[in-house]
Amino acid sequence: MGELRNAGIISMASAVPDKVLTNADLEKIVDTSDEWIRNMTGVRERRIASEGEGCSDYAVKAARKALDKAGLEPKDIDLIIVGTFTGDQQLPSTACLVQNALGCVGTPAFDIAAACSGFVYALSVANSFIRLGTYNRILVIGADILTAVTNWTDRGTCVLFGDGAGAAVVGPVEPGYGLLAFDLGADGTGVDALRIPAGGSKMPITHENLDEHANKIVMQGREVFKFAVKVQSEAIDRVLRQVDMTPEDIDMVVPHAANIRIIDSAVNRFGLPRDKFFTNLEKYGNTSAASIPLGLDEAVELGLVKKDDTVVVVGFGGGLTWAASLMKWAY
Ligand code: UT7
Repeated sequence: MGELRNAGIISMASAVPDKVLTNADLEKIVDTSDEWIRNMTGVRERRIASEGEGCSDYAVKAARKALDKAGLEPKDIDLIIVGTFTGDQQLPSTACLVQNALGCVGTPAFDIAAACSGFVYALSVANSFIRLGTYNRILVIGADILTAVTNWTDRGTCVLFGDGAGAAVVGPVEPGYGLLAFDLGADGTGVDALRIPAGGSKMPITHENLDEHANKIVMQGREVFKFAVKVQSEAIDRVLRQVDMTPEDIDMVVPHAANIRIIDSAVNRFGLPRDKFFTNLEKYGNTSAASIPLGLDEAVELGLVKKDDTVVVVGFGGGLTWAASLMKWAY
């Protein structure tokens, strides 16, 4: 085997629906208040897709922008990976829908099911393929339309979620740059904490379970919260240790945007300044696999993440899964 290459993100982009759903709008749907939502989650508003729009629509928009920024054409892409659990349809994969829309017939394409950790799981797969020299340009997308699987009668969940997509082009980068460490994990004892009971092979959709909203997200919020606080910090610790770094070496953390109190727990745990954690949670809510690339793209656009910076991304979600990566930003 030849020498392993370094792989890194060489361009980032994102796409969200135009339609905004504010906390005031939610006050009209369920028994909640803007104050409760802001204090308990940090979310002020979220974007929601319109009827007829699906996950692939935003995945494709983000992908086209990421390709443009990298100066690439769809035909230059060797592999497409989409992290999502709200694909347009159960069959085919959303990655194949993206491939078809981009018009790059022949390019391998598949989805990764790791819920909110999907983008970072997908990055880790891309990293391995690039490092080994199997592929040169990989499109990694995190996209979710959570409002399609939201139970709008459940105030414990419907105030949290939003829609969006983010895309990265991953390719070879200079030695010392790019994706330097990963920490992926899953705790299957938590399978019941965050799930969509109906619509799979175990419980196909029936009129009865539709009436019970069993085709929508069911969450044990407290359980997920405790899990998230724990694994978020542990995963950051582990990626730092892999590269012999300390929290002070980090220029920016882009955490999964689920709840500002979960992010604050890491701010306190590591004793870092608040501005070393970038989130746009207040504008978009929890967009699952899209949240980390949405955050990264905005941080790069604002100049808050730039070449040579040490950046940590960390996510957690249904499974229960988690995933972190430490990168030295390559552009
Ligand atoms: O991507 C990963 C997926 N999910 C997450 O990361 C979510 C993690 N969990 C959370 O963020 C939090 O658990 C929530 C924000 C969902 C809830 O916060 P909590 O501190 O765990 O509150 P709770 O569920 O224990 O509820 C506290 C109270 C309850 O009322 P009582 O029983 O004390 O009278 C709830 O009924 O808050 C009530 N409540 C609400 N009140 C107003 C729950 N949702 C709402 C709401 N508006 N939207």
